[in-house]
Amino acid sequence: MDLALYLEERKQLVEHALEELLPPVHRPPQRLNAAIRYSLMGGGKRLRPILVLAAAEAVGGGIPPLLPFACAMECIHTYSLIHDDLPAMDDDDLRRGRPTCHKAFDEATAILAGDALLTYAFELAAHPVAGLDPAIQLDALAQLARDAGIHGMVGGQMMDMEAENRSISLPELQNVHIHKTGALIRCATLAGARLGGGSPEEIRALKRYGEACGLAFQITDDILDEVGDTQVMGKTAGNDRKRNKASYCSLLGVAQAREEAASMVREALEALSPFSSVADPLRGLVRKLLDRTH
Ligand code: IPE
Ligand code: IPE
Ligand code: MG
Ligand code: MG
Ligand code: MG
Repeated sequence: MDLALYLEERKQLVEHALEELLPPVHRPPQRLNAAIRYSLMGGGKRLRPILVLAAAEAVGGGIPPLLPFACAMECIHTYSLIHDDLPAMDDDDLRRGRPTCHKAFDEATAILAGDALLTYAFELAAHPVAGLDPAIQLDALAQLARDAGIHGMVGGQMMDMEAENRSISLPELQNVHIHKTGALIRCATLAGARLGGGSPEEIRALKRYGEACGLAFQITDDILDEVGDTQVMGKTAGNDRKRNKASYCSLLGVAQAREEAASMVREALEALSPFSSVADPLRGLVRKLLDRTH
C-alpha cells in the first residue's frame, strides 16, 4: 500500500471536514474565530484524527460518520498546543511554521481560543454517529473526556511542568509521556475501534497499539527537540534543553532514546498481529515514527 497517498487522502478528508464544521471566520466573536482558525487550519500532521479513521477502517467501519469525532480530537489536540506554547508553560514563539497563537493574537485570545476549541470538541463528538448504538458513542465520549483531562493530557501537562528543573526517574518520565501525549493517541485508536464497530478483541488490540504508538510518538518528539531542524519541524528545536525539561534525551541520550522508541514501535506492531492487511496503514504509520523529521 502507498502510505504517503493514504495519509494525504485522510488528511484532506479531515481538513475538509474541519472547514465545514468550524464556525465561519466572519461570525462574531470574529477575533476568537480568527484565532481558532489560525491555529487549527495552519498545518499539522492530523495524526490523531487519522488514527481514529485508520482504526475504524481496520475493523471494517466507514469513514464519513466518524469525521466529526475525528475532528473533535484535532480540536482538543490543537487547544493543547495553544496552551502548551503560552509564556506560562513552554513559552514558544513558533508552531506549525508560524508565530504561536499568543504571538499572532495576544495571550487572552490564545487562552480563550484554547477554551473554545476544547468545548467545541465535545459539541462535535456528540454529533450522532449514523447507524451506531448511542450507548457506544456515549462511552467513546466519556473516554475522550477522561483522556483529555485530569487523568490524561491535562494531568500529564501538570506533571511535565512540575518536572522542569528537577531530575526525575525514567519510570516517572514515562508516566508524564503516557499522560501528556499517550492518552489522546490511545483514545484515538480506541474510539476508532469502538465507533467503527470493532469486536471486544479488536478494540483491546487497537487500544494496546495506541498506547505503544503514543509513547513512541512522544519519545520521538523528545528526540526531534534535541536533533531536529526548526525549519522542518515548524517549531523551535532545543526548547526542552533550554527549559531544563526532563526528556528521553536528557535522561538516556539520543541513541538510547531511539532504542526505546523502536521497542515501542515493535510493541505496537505486535498488537496488530491479529489483523490482516486492513491494518497496514496503522503499521506504516507507527513504523514511520522512527525516522520522522517533523
Ligand atoms: C506535538 O504534536 C505535541 C505533542 C503531543 C508531541 P504533533 O507533532 O502531532 O503536532 P502537529 O499536530 O503535527 O502540529
Ligand atoms: C506537548 O509536549 C504535549 C501536549 C499535550 C501539547 P511538548 O511540549 O513536548 O510538545 P511540543 O514539542 O511543544 O510540540
Ligand atoms: Mg510542553
Ligand atoms: Mg511544548
Ligand atoms: Mg516537545
